[in-house]
Amino acid sequence: MDALGTKSRPGVVIWASKEEASELHAALKALKWLEPLSTSQKKNRDMVGFVCQHTSPLDEDQIQRLESCFPHPFEHGITTVEPAGLSVNPHQKLRHAVSQWLAFQPFQYDGDLLERLPSKWERLGDLVVLSSEAFTDPKWCAMLERVPPEQTVGLWSQVASALGGLRLARQDHIANNDMRTPQLELLHGTSTWVEFTDYGVHFGFDAKKVMFSSGNITERHRIGGLSMKGETVVDAYAGAGYYTLPMLVRSGAEHVHACEMNPASIEGLTWAAMANGVEHKLTVHAGNNQTTLQDLKGIADRCHLGLLPSSEAVWVHAIRCLKPSGGWLHIHMNINKKEIDALSMETQELLQRYAREEGRDWRVTVEHIERVKSFSPGVMHVVFDVMCSGA
Ligand SMILES: C[S@@+](CC[C@H](N)C(=O)[O-])C[C@H]1O[C@@H](n2cnc3c(N)ncnc32)[C@H](O)[C@@H]1O
Repeated sequence: MDALGTKSRPGVVIWASKEEASELHAALKALKWLEPLSTSQKKNRDMVGFVCQHTSPLDEDQIQRLESCFPHPFEHGITTVEPAGLSVNPHQKLRHAVSQWLAFQPFQYDGDLLERLPSKWERLGDLVVLSSEAFTDPKWCAMLERVPPEQTVGLWSQVASALGGLRLARQDHIANNDMRTPQLELLHGTSTWVEFTDYGVHFGFDAKKVMFSSGNITERHRIGGLSMKGETVVDAYAGAGYYTLPMLVRSGAEHVHACEMNPASIEGLTWAAMANGVEHKLTVHAGNNQTTLQDLKGIADRCHLGLLPSSEAVWVHAIRCLKPSGGWLHIHMNINKKEIDALSMETQELLQRYAREEGRDWRVTVEHIERVKSFSPGVMHVVFDVMCSGA
């Protein structure tokens, strides 16, 4: 075992002749040595091997215990198996890591625990964020209450590494405030600051203070793939730069004015602008965009409105931000799936009316509807790409 109370790898395969295989299997099962995820292995037609949850080589005491259950000479031997050979599926890796940890607990445990493992998580750099219900059902709570803290550290570290990370956190709900502050419980690690690179764009922020939706990745890539060469862009809800940074780094925007009211998001955005070498093309407008957008009238070729469920509160401001010659609006919205087309028409008509009231003689059209992801049953996160073209 290592300092964290977890077992190091690789494991062993114990071999027997075909005739003795079922007896060996029964012995290994009785000893609780069997690796639960693996299937039996075959060699030279007449040899069958079983992967065990043991570091290699087996010590004398282990050999004696095995011999007492399986009284045959080990003529077919014991070989090692690399853990990577066992599984590359993260769900299976997680199951394997947890079963190894359980096997080293000094008391009986309920086998059902392995059926109650998390099925959802996201990775932000080396921080794995589990969903809020992970390891919280009554059986797991009862188990974790019995385990001394240093052993629990071992479990969290195993889970993080099985899921490809070094640190582990569990999501609580996202606070119902304008900043949508995430509540995170750090299970393993010392800090919640994360850094990662996506499609060549560097991001960094404190995951405990800043909301980041990994589910919006396709939209981030799509926006970063649009050409914005020479354009001035207003990002009305910039966050830690989810869209601001791809627009600067990949789309070639000349300048982005980023409105954001969460100081922690601004800290991340400023850090990442430096990391991407685009800080000279970025102006951050800290505070409520109802106020800050008023200083950005008539300057933009494009305005990005990335707030859910709707950014309607600033549509008039967004129209005022566009140059008199017009430009693009990218409007995020959560919409009942059956009403997407109707809402698209309604949005177009409303924006056309607002534009007219602002003295803008534009033709407003929803040019494209991007269906980003299913947000909840029956509700879809969509983006309307709206073109406002001068007469
Ligand atoms: C939903 S988050 C952005 C999430 C991001 N679009 C993503 O896909 O991960 C919205 C951001 O807008 C900011 N925000 C909300 N209302 C605001 C307002 N009135 N003025 C300025 N920023 C605001 C929040 O602080 C937050 O950073």
